[in-house]
Amino acid sequence: MKVTIVGAGNVGASCAEYISIKQIASEVVLLDIKDGLAEGKALDLRQTSTTLGFDSQISGVTNDYKATLNSKVVVITSGIPRKPGMTREELIGINAGIVQSVATNILKYSPNAIIIVVSNPMDTMTYLTLKSTGLSKNRIIGMGGALDSSRFKTYLSMALKKPACDIDGMVIGGHGDTTMIPLTRLASYNGIPINNFLSEKILDEVSASTMVGGATLTKLLGTSAWYAPGASVSYLVDSVLNNRRKIIPCSVMLEGEYGLNDICIGVPIIVGENGVEEIIDIKLNNIENEKLKKSALSVANMNLALNTILK
Ligand code: NAI
Ligand code: 2OP
Repeated sequence: MKVTIVGAGNVGASCAEYISIKQIASEVVLLDIKDGLAEGKALDLRQTSTTLGFDSQISGVTNDYKATLNSKVVVITSGIPRKPGMTREELIGINAGIVQSVATNILKYSPNAIIIVVSNPMDTMTYLTLKSTGLSKNRIIGMGGALDSSRFKTYLSMALKKPACDIDGMVIGGHGDTTMIPLTRLASYNGIPINNFLSEKILDEVSASTMVGGATLTKLLGTSAWYAPGASVSYLVDSVLNNRRKIIPCSVMLEGEYGLNDICIGVPIIVGENGVEEIIDIKLNNIENEKLKKSALSVANMNLALNTILK
């Protein structure tokens, strides 16, 4: 099955790498606007296949959408990344134009594709993609919660000094430093509620570190992160292509779930061959509900910036 990744920058290339190495798709196409970049990354990656032992076909193209024909999944990572001190929100003007034109081009050649939106501000870009393409809401998934949850679980494992693979936890809400909501109440270490092991104070610190997880890396790297984002995207792509029906927090259009309407924001969903198979409307407590409402308000405010674009 074929996957196209638009944007062969840090996240796009990392995502292509995991998808290929884990043989999630038989064919991976990288597309970028920068002359030769996608071709170069694809060729470089292809030359790892003999040593690493995988046989996914990888190709790269410069803005040639014909090569993306009949992709089952398309990942949009094109756009500019966050620079130190820059909020995701500041990216909106530039990335909205890019995401909209990419989605239009993609659908000319893959009218049935499931689209995974990564470009920031991701919740708003997901909303924009849905509104501007008019596709059914199961076909547009925003990736943010998977990454934020992986950061949450990593910080929990660091606080516990226990293996991250034994930790479960989820982050919902917007994909932003002040809008994401790490659900500490539901986090667990091998099925045992996490508050049996960590104090309220430590859990608050873990939540705070999670919320600025992206900014911390941006400060260290001088640009935003790519390994964990690429891995999170590949996890989603795998669940779609192989119909794994994993529960993953993703940004999706809500129509009454969680008491919210006309907004794309992170909530747990079942991801399968049709994209969004089911939105899981878990019962939140009052504090979590309040946080989600506040988060949704902030995302909705950012969506207002699209008014001039979505006329
Ligand atoms: P990057 O700068 O390394 O790569 C972006 C690529 O997009 C560049 O190669 C650029 O040439 C390409 N591009 C720009 N306009 C294009 C167009 N019209 N068509 C095709 N390609 C185009 O950036 P990076 O680090 O890969 O990040 C990409 C985006 O993903 C950014 O918006 C970033 O903020 C976002 N991001 C989102 C995350 C999430 O969890 N949702 C996590 C990490 C990054
Ligand atoms: C991240 O969380 C900046 O959204 C990007 O790493």
